[in-house]
Amino acid sequence: MEATQTRPIRSQKFEAVCAILDKYKRQPSKLIPILQAVQDEYRYLPEEVLNYVATALGIPPARVFGVATFYTYFALEPKGKYVIRLCDGTACHVKNSIPILEALREKLGVTEKKKTTPDMLFTLETVACLGACGLAPVVMVNGEVHSRMTPEAAVKLIEDLQKQEQVAAAKKEAC
Ligand code: FES
Repeated sequence: MEATQTRPIRSQKFEAVCAILDKYKRQPSKLIPILQAVQDEYRYLPEEVLNYVATALGIPPARVFGVATFYTYFALEPKGKYVIRLCDGTACHVKNSIPILEALREKLGVTEKKKTTPDMLFTLETVACLGACGLAPVVMVNGEVHSRMTPEAAVKLIEDLQKQEQVAAAKKEAC
């Protein structure tokens, strides 16, 4: 008999989650870092994965969902490949973050409610402060800070990423 029999079955689908759970020795006290790692893997927290994590840790799903919904850092909806965080904290706001937000929304065709583009490439969010006030106004793309932004520079950033994606798609097709 395999020792894993008492654990949830390791399906291929949950292989990455299993690796994360193993890394944290399936300790319920490590729930937050486990969820962070799961989100890094999937870019959000799928409901079925949260249920799987609860079973694997031997804790009620309500506790896992409670943590996942308490922290704004966690996302229960899929996000785009590029998560753009526009800072609208005080320092960035006084340095004209709103025109940047408007330019990005127009470029991407997203709104305050519909934050992700239909092709799942971009998600645009606003945040209170990115901790880089001296570089205001700031935009962060997948954790990379872009300082002293303007609406034009922000749009150029998107266009560069779109070009990068087109080149990658063309290369894939050529293979
Ligand atoms: S207010 Fe924007 S980085 Fe602090």
